[in-house]
Amino acid sequence: MGVTRSFFIALSKNQALNSGAKKWGLKLGAGKVVAGTDINSMMQSVKELNANGIGATIDNLGEFVRTKEEAIQAKEAILETLEAIQVYGVNAHMSVKLTQIGLDVDFAFCLKNIQEIVAAAARYDIFINLDMEDYAHLQQTLDILEALLKDYDNVGTVIQAYLYRSEKDIENLQNVRLRLVKGAYKESEEVSLQDKKEIDDNYLKLIKIHLQSSGYTSIATHDHHIIEEVKAFVKEKNIPLNSFEFQMLYGFRTEMQKDLAKEGYSFTTYVPFGQDWYAYYMRRLAERPQNINLALKSFVSK
Ligand code: FDA
Repeated sequence: MGVTRSFFIALSKNQALNSGAKKWGLKLGAGKVVAGTDINSMMQSVKELNANGIGATIDNLGEFVRTKEEAIQAKEAILETLEAIQVYGVNAHMSVKLTQIGLDVDFAFCLKNIQEIVAAAARYDIFINLDMEDYAHLQQTLDILEALLKDYDNVGTVIQAYLYRSEKDIENLQNVRLRLVKGAYKESEEVSLQDKKEIDDNYLKLIKIHLQSSGYTSIATHDHHIIEEVKAFVKEKNIPLNSFEFQMLYGFRTEMQKDLAKEGYSFTTYVPFGQDWYAYYMRRLAERPQNINLALKSFVSK
């Protein structure tokens, strides 16, 4: 891991800075990639996306949940956002991290919380995506998904192409709506590919497998090479446009997002919001040095 990347990952985990940032409002250029700290400002961004033919998957940001009280608070905030999607009448669904609603506190407690969320979403006909976190949480996330799928069909998860086991996981989830990504965490070579080219090749392989299964495929990447390959593949195989979509993060490659939607592809933007913006923003800085220049510019111009 490069020095800059490690530095920003370390900053993202600093609890004092995380708590402090909640009181600052969006700073250091974070407003470019985080859609506000409250529901109303986030919804204005979602409406703008919708006006460009783009849907949203909304993430109520939250980190370091260690107690039942914090997990319940996070669950309530997610339920409130689900209701707001209804009230504002926007084209949006939600992305949820299970650690935010108690996965590190107690498995059964977390399952109960996500059941409540998925049940509420089902009443509104809203899809819930279980974001995939690090490898330590993977099996539990898949176990929770399996339990939810017994009662609901408005739920899916994320498969990370850098993991050796992902091809097998995809085979077991053929009918399920899946978001496919390269993978964002630092994982050991025992469980994951380390070489960028190998990860990209495996990513395309997994995308092609799921595109040809009955489950809906969300291809979440900013990589134009991958996007071009997918476009060619779906054309060659006559894969219907309503069986897949592209996804990107809010504030990244905004023009390309609009262009893909204009070309007729379904497109969803991942829209994070909330007072807990700091760790999310530090991880984005760690991923992409160009963002650091932006942050520094905004810092010195204050
Ligand atoms: P990558 O970072 O490999 O970049 C490939 C190439 O694309 C670059 O070399 C450059 O040429 C171009 N490029 C990339 N970004 C650009 C930019 N901003 N401007 C111009 N060119 C650019 N991960 C995870 O583990 N669990 C999860 O649940 C999710 N969820 C998720 C949702 C969504 C909507 C997205 C987009 C991503 C995730 N991820 C994720 C993160 C994912 O695993 C991955 O870490 C990042 O998307 C970075 O990889 P990319 O595929 O975007 O391209």
